[in-house]
Order: sequence, then structure tokens, then C-alpha cells
Amino acid sequence: MHSGGRILEYCGLFSNLETKKYGRTAAFLGSIDSTNNYIKKLEHYLPDGFVALAKKQENGRGRSGKEFYSPSGHGLYMSVLVKDEKAVSDSLATVKACLAACRAIDRITGTDKDNGVGIKWVNDIYYKGRKLCGILCERSEGADGKMYVVIGIGINLFFDRGEAPPYLREIAGSVFDVSGVEYHAPTLCAEIVNELEQLLSDENDSKKVLDEYRGRSIVLGQEISVIQGDEEKRAAALDICEDGSLLVRYENGFTSKLCGGEISIRRSW
Ligand code: BTN
Repeated sequence: MHSGGRILEYCGLFSNLETKKYGRTAAFLGSIDSTNNYIKKLEHYLPDGFVALAKKQENGRGRSGKEFYSPSGHGLYMSVLVKDEKAVSDSLATVKACLAACRAIDRITGTDKDNGVGIKWVNDIYYKGRKLCGILCERSEGADGKMYVVIGIGINLFFDRGEAPPYLREIAGSVFDVSGVEYHAPTLCAEIVNELEQLLSDENDSKKVLDEYRGRSIVLGQEISVIQGDEEKRAAALDICEDGSLLVRYENGFTSKLCGGEISIRRSW
């Protein structure tokens, strides 16, 4: 029932899994084009909460059509299938995915939100100015006509600068940089899945979720560039809105809510 890659082992690897549903069905894959693609191809056969975890991606995808460098062994490349209607229509699903990854990294590295990793809107996780995690959430219509979401999370566990493509050498970091330990991908994956199930359950107070996201933001209060095609506009990052969009004020005084796209941080005010 799968296409591409080889299923190596199932979720017995997730000895630290504490969920009811998420990650209880999973595939641990060797080399695959992309774990998001894997789930999207098989969505019809897979249950809510299914997790695909790969050792390597040949065509790891990032946002805005960019590649996500996914070398063998040193990274966590995972995707989670979300079919539950409430979770699928949750406008904060991406925000929650990002918080799940931050909390899990804090837990295994022993850091916390004040001295650990931070979030660069929308969904990149940084440590000391370097990106160590990217998240790609994709919403699609399933074969049964119902919408589903694939949450794809890529984390550098160790970043080998010598091996990496030159354009990444100065911008990428890893979880190893946080604590000097290279973690086992399935262990971190299960921690993320534990957090994700809890965050996507409907008992969550969205104000608390947003406050946690704001508290981890490395963008708020900063002067940024908003990148739209070939154009870059200077703006101030003011707030994260209730739907997870970024409120900015441009130099001409106009304010705007950004729902997606790319920004870069220029400097602190
Ligand atoms: C980004 O940095 O723009 C998002 C990167 C998302 C990468 C993850 S790795 C697992 C999943 N499969 C993919 O092809 N992409 C996501």
C-alpha cells in the first residue's frame, strides 16, 4: 500500500510515545522523495494521526517551492496526517505544529522558552541566529472529498557544514548546537507527536497558544523586510494576530496583516 521508499520498521521505535492516536500508526522509511509527498499519495489508505519518518529525503520540500536539504542520518524528516475535521479547520494548526517542535526540542535539550529555540514567523525555528527547523503544512482535498492537512517538519539534528550546499553554510544550525548532543530522530519525533496531539485537541485555549507563540517570536519588535516576488519592503513587526498572521507597519505608516510569504529580520529597533 505504499509508493516509494521502503518501510523499515513501525512505531515500536517510538518508545516514548504517550499519545492516544497520533503516531500509533507510522512508517519508518529509508530514502524517500518527501515524507509529505508519501502521505499525500497514500492519504486515502491512511488513518488520522499517521506519521511518516524518513532517514533521508531526495526531494525534501520547503515553503515557496524551495528545497529542504535532507541528508541521510543527521536530520529528522517527518510528516503527520491530520484528518480530524476540527483540527483540519483549526486556523492555528501551523502555529501549533511550530510550538510542538519548540517544546519537544526544549524537552530533549533541557532548555526552555527563555533560553532555548525561537520562532521566526511563520514557522522557522532558530537558535542563535541559525535555522534548525522548517515546517511545511499542506492542506488538500482527499479522495473522499474531505479536507486533510499534512504537517511536515524537518529538523537538523547535526549540521555538517563541509557537506552542506554553500548557500546553507552560514544560515543553518542544528539541535546539536543547542546542547552538544546528536539526538535519535525517532525519540524527538515521538516527543513532537506527543505535543502535537495535545495542542490539536480541542481543549486548548487559543489565547494561551498565541501567547506562547508570541513569547517565542524572534521577529516581534524587529525591523524586517517583507519579500514579495522581487520586491522588498521595510516594515516593523508589531504583533501575531488571532489567526496567526503577522501584523506589520510599513515605512509609509500603513499597517497590514501578512498571512504567508517570506520575511527577513533587518535589525532590532
Ligand atoms: C521550510 O523550511 O520552508 C519548510 C521545510 C519543511 C521540511 C519538511 S521535512 C519533512 C517534510 N517533507 C518535506 O518534503 N518537507 C517537510
